Amino acid sequence: MRLDINRNETLPVYMQIANRIKEQILSGILPAGFVLPPERKMADDHAVSRTTVIRAYEELKALGLVASHRGKGTVVTERKVPESHGNDQKVFPLSWYPLFDKKIANVSDTVSELMHAGNHNDVISLAAGIGDPNLYPISTLQQIQRESPLESDQLNLSPVEGLYSLRESISRLMTGRNLSVSAKEVMILAGSMQGIDFAARALLSPGDAVIVEEPTFLQAIQCFRAAGAKIIGIPIDREGIRLDVLEAQLARYKPKFIYTIPAYHNPTGVVMSIERRKGLLDLAYRYQVPILEDDPYGDISFAQERLPPLKALDPYGYVIYLSTFSKVLFPGLRIGWTIAPEPVMRKFALLKQIADLHVNTPGQFLVDQFLRKGYYEAHLRRTSLDYQKKRDVMAKALTQAKGLIHFEIPDGGFYLWCRIPYQISQKELLALCSDQGVIYTPGNVFYPQESDGEHWLRLNFTYESMDRLERGLSIFINAVKKLNKQSSQTDLETGSRPIV
Ligand SMILES: Cc1ncc(COP(=O)(O)O)c(C=O)c1O
Repeated sequence: MRLDINRNETLPVYMQIANRIKEQILSGILPAGFVLPPERKMADDHAVSRTTVIRAYEELKALGLVASHRGKGTVVTERKVPESHGNDQKVFPLSWYPLFDKKIANVSDTVSELMHAGNHNDVISLAAGIGDPNLYPISTLQQIQRESPLESDQLNLSPVEGLYSLRESISRLMTGRNLSVSAKEVMILAGSMQGIDFAARALLSPGDAVIVEEPTFLQAIQCFRAAGAKIIGIPIDREGIRLDVLEAQLARYKPKFIYTIPAYHNPTGVVMSIERRKGLLDLAYRYQVPILEDDPYGDISFAQERLPPLKALDPYGYVIYLSTFSKVLFPGLRIGWTIAPEPVMRKFALLKQIADLHVNTPGQFLVDQFLRKGYYEAHLRRTSLDYQKKRDVMAKALTQAKGLIHFEIPDGGFYLWCRIPYQISQKELLALCSDQGVIYTPGNVFYPQESDGEHWLRLNFTYESMDRLERGLSIFINAVKKLNKQSSQTDLETGSRPIV
């Protein structure tokens, strides 16, 4: 047993030992009947005196959490409901961990960890999933506020499906995306993430299978895992999801739905070809499996041609479409939308009522004004140009890493998906970069099995200003070169050779 003891803490060491063990007993990590290490061993293991351990164990006995048994040692006791002693009753701290739903307990919180790491001002984040905050159209927003100040209506409740006038504006926006829908077919959500969550809540029961591209958006994996689903990953190539592999898995698992990001896929940047889109729909029809189409990046395009979303190619009502303003406008407003077949819309409206009633009204009002006054297109053009320049800078810098880093150049979106030499340890690379103030996203978090993707990583080119981006890239590339050199030296010294 290894306990974390801090000798600089003011709390005496025996109390620290008692507290650490208490936490483990109450959280269920140490079950009833578990025998604590003998006092002498515990003392040696933690470089403390035996008296300190005896005092810690006495403390636990006084709480009724352990008992001494001759010949057996100090044993964790069965916890019984204590009798009530009125005001004198001893109240044990509540052990939360055993109470959590098992599905949630097993989901790792990689996003919070990465966001936490990126929250320091001095850290250069190539791990972000948002645009450049310096490009947020703040002055336009202020102008809107001057021209159309918020009134009590915009601070009131809105319909569950969202403000009708915003739904109208989005239906017009969708025409530019080759999809013709009425305002009634649009429902406003708290970001497209809420649509992924609602699809999981509406369609998945524990044990159900769901198909995702492999790799895919990390939070979608977390969401489906939290629903208790079996997540089946299908590899993607330059044209999108591999239909040959998909067909076999559709037959085998009979999944509840297929989750896909056809335009500037996160994390790979791949755009699904028109043939693949049609082929995917064909398979969906044949196996009667719905498609959850997530389209947060489609607008951020550096290409001439824009392919129609799957939703626009689907006359039979198999596709649930999601999109968001998080990537082009303001991620903090939390405004996204869905366009879905009628029965799905009804269930989503019910789930919206249960979750949070509606998206914040002032935010909906501001975005609606932004669209109505025609600011969106100009803003999109400006940001896309800026992101394209940054993409070029990133691609050029990585190319100079002399064949060490492999990647395809995406025609839009936010990311470059990179492969690093197999002999470089991702853990060491992450540590070396973050020691120098640079973070990125390791590839494994985008795979349903986190053991995959070890030699891949995702770099974001949109978030940082140009000079910080260049600085971050230089640190990253030097770290790759350094670790590669070290490992080839080790290979030479040990005579080991790569096994292909
Ligand atoms: C593929 C994908 N879907 C959804 C989202 C979340 O978007 P929103 O902020 O609208 O919830 C992201 C954000 O990174 C994403 O990459």
